[in-house]
Amino acid sequence: MFSGLGLGSTALLGWGFNSFNILGRENYYLQGNFAPVKEIITEDRLEVVGNIPKDLSGLYLRNGPNPMSKPNIKKYHWFGGEGMLHGVRLDGGKAVWYRNRQVGGNNANTHVISHAKKIYAIVEAGGSPVEIDQELNSLTEEPFYGTLKTGFTAHTKLDPKSQELHGITYNFPRGTYEAHHVVVGKDGRINRADLLPLSSGTMLHECAITENYVLVFDLSITFSFLKLGTGYFPFSWNNDHQARIGLLNRKTNDGVIKWFSIDPCYFFHTVNAYEDERGNVIVDAMKYQKLFDEDWNGPFTEFPPHLTRWSLNLSTGNASEQQLDDLPAEFPRMHPDLNGKVNRYGYSLGVGSGQKPDFGRIIKYDFAKNTNEVYELSEEMEGAEPVFIPAENQKSEDEGYLLLYVYNKETNKSDLVIFDAQSIKSGPRATVKLPQRVPFGFHGSWVPA
Ligand SMILES: [Fe+2]
Repeated sequence: MFSGLGLGSTALLGWGFNSFNILGRENYYLQGNFAPVKEIITEDRLEVVGNIPKDLSGLYLRNGPNPMSKPNIKKYHWFGGEGMLHGVRLDGGKAVWYRNRQVGGNNANTHVISHAKKIYAIVEAGGSPVEIDQELNSLTEEPFYGTLKTGFTAHTKLDPKSQELHGITYNFPRGTYEAHHVVVGKDGRINRADLLPLSSGTMLHECAITENYVLVFDLSITFSFLKLGTGYFPFSWNNDHQARIGLLNRKTNDGVIKWFSIDPCYFFHTVNAYEDERGNVIVDAMKYQKLFDEDWNGPFTEFPPHLTRWSLNLSTGNASEQQLDDLPAEFPRMHPDLNGKVNRYGYSLGVGSGQKPDFGRIIKYDFAKNTNEVYELSEEMEGAEPVFIPAENQKSEDEGYLLLYVYNKETNKSDLVIFDAQSIKSGPRATVKLPQRVPFGFHGSWVPA
């Protein structure tokens, strides 16, 4: 994620001698299924257990870090490896192929999205999006028809009405931090790139949109020269920085951000944001009480992330906060057409509350009933981000499928598993056996055929 800085990622390369970092903590992010795979495979004979839904025709794509050179184990950060894509094509109930391919050009390692008939591997902090073809090959064209003049982001938000993609981006042109609100039009070209009044060096991983606003998450992790200078991932917990959520008015577009102070925290990922009937802005996200403070290699060993709701009261200017679930979880997803609108359901990957990463459960939230439903993976299995795909001719919000890669420690391979989102407790309805493991990565998308 920080590869785009161009400020010294080579300092990360070299030979490590053990897996403990500078503070005596173990670096989990090169072990087990965090470790990279080296084989580039195309396989069209895939064993399938169960029934793949016939209305799932398209490409399930996922991006994540896969360091190809030998990293320094003490200093390696999970966000730092070169991007690798893993994809499975499904067609009318059949699994047609599995492929994995390195992302070309740079380290666009965080997400892969489709927009305006193009597919892009994307990353924050200045790395250029890389256009990908339907067979996972990296193309050399400039992203967005050459119209991108700023950094980009790992998380865009599609406005379901205008079909525009919104992103809050940051980069370091000439060594100085700059943040922008960027909009990619329905035509696949950048149609706005407004400089934001923000100089904090905040790690802006995600944004959100509502009917009237774009949300800016200026939280407690900021750029660190100390970490950069010593060859570590250059973002750090910063207690001195006032965490706040900002609202940029999408209707007036006056560039003014209305800020709401919140308690120190960080979140990478929102489930969603929307305006309630009183005009308050509601944000649901996976909150970390603290991270990147004592562990400089990854997010899962300090405080577990919890689903938390912030309500921003526009009349008083105050924000209130409430934890919604006590099961630690990350990588939330929901219906792709509900950005900025009230969503009843959400889905996430349970991450465990221990001192090391543990991806053993899939969680579904019902925000109307304030309940959850959990599917516990068996002992030898570990999951990843569950992507929700609406069923064809969908009649209710949760009618559809959850697709995710699941790693099997015993076979040292992964499966693509498909759940019916209305009954995740019944377990996978179909499992596609893959010829190798898919390392734990970050994010993926469904690209309909
Ligand atoms: Fe992310």
